[in-house]
Amino acid sequence: MKVIETVDEMRRLRRTLAGPVGFVPTMGYLHEGHLSLVKRAREDNATVVVSIFVNPTQFGPCEDLEDYPRDIKRDLTMLEELDTDVVFMPPPDEIYPPQFNTWVEVTGLTERLEGAARPTHFRGVTTVVAKLFNIVQPTRAYFGQKDAQQAIVIQKMATDLNMGLDVIVCPTIREHDGLAMSSRNIYLTPEQRRSATVLSQSLKMAERLWTDGERNAEHIRSEMRQFIERQPEGQIDYISVADTLTLEELDTITSAALVSLAVRFGKTRLLDNVVLRPYQGK
Ligand code: PAJ
Repeated sequence: MKVIETVDEMRRLRRTLAGPVGFVPTMGYLHEGHLSLVKRAREDNATVVVSIFVNPTQFGPCEDLEDYPRDIKRDLTMLEELDTDVVFMPPPDEIYPPQFNTWVEVTGLTERLEGAARPTHFRGVTTVVAKLFNIVQPTRAYFGQKDAQQAIVIQKMATDLNMGLDVIVCPTIREHDGLAMSSRNIYLTPEQRRSATVLSQSLKMAERLWTDGERNAEHIRSEMRQFIERQPEGQIDYISVADTLTLEELDTITSAALVSLAVRFGKTRLLDNVVLRPYQGK
């Protein structure tokens, strides 16, 4: 496994890599969710490149950039075990040299849900992912359904800018009690950790309502809200039942819907989602 820290070196190496090249961008502190993307990339491609870069531009001024958990040694051991070919882990000024002045922005989609709560977040994500795509030049790039809006925004960017790669979205990996895996779960107190199962449970409830024939989006939102409010710990940021492509809130679910939510436990904001699809399961 090669570990690369500069853009020049990554570019030079890229010319020698066997295709297809699968790419998994991460901010490190890897867990089974990240590793599922690496495994899928390993299955699909001749070469697997993983990046580890805690991207400062996607954090807001009061967010956890400084405290974002890091453990490079452990990450590298995990990636080596999965037969990763290349790890690209540049320092911040390699990606953002002084006078960096160019931004990639997807409009519309990024103003809703996470974008409403974190106004500069997606601009940071799309800019860094566009840069990483330019540097690594992958055939395919892998993202998690866990961050559904991020995956939709990146797919839109790749299409709108003719980036010529496949964006592949992989299922959310969960803990045994249903909590979606996240690097930020370690911030939860034991009590908050116990309460955090309300996210996945409320989504299960939405799925049940949907399979039982409920098509009124507001009814689903309000049932989820009541369910979450029954336990005192979490503060709801939003509960959304939206179109899977435009992310506009729905009144009636006519075909598919993305049900997503953000709930705060102290300073920790947790996200989860599920897609309701016609004729699913039964
Ligand atoms: P990070 O939070 O490290 O996540 C890296 C990738 O892992 C993302 O595609 C994310 O959706 C996926 N992922 C996280 N938890 C998951 C889970 N429980 N199941 C499946 N996939 C999961 O997302 C980012 O980093 C950054 O925004 C990045 C795209 C790297 C740009 O900086």
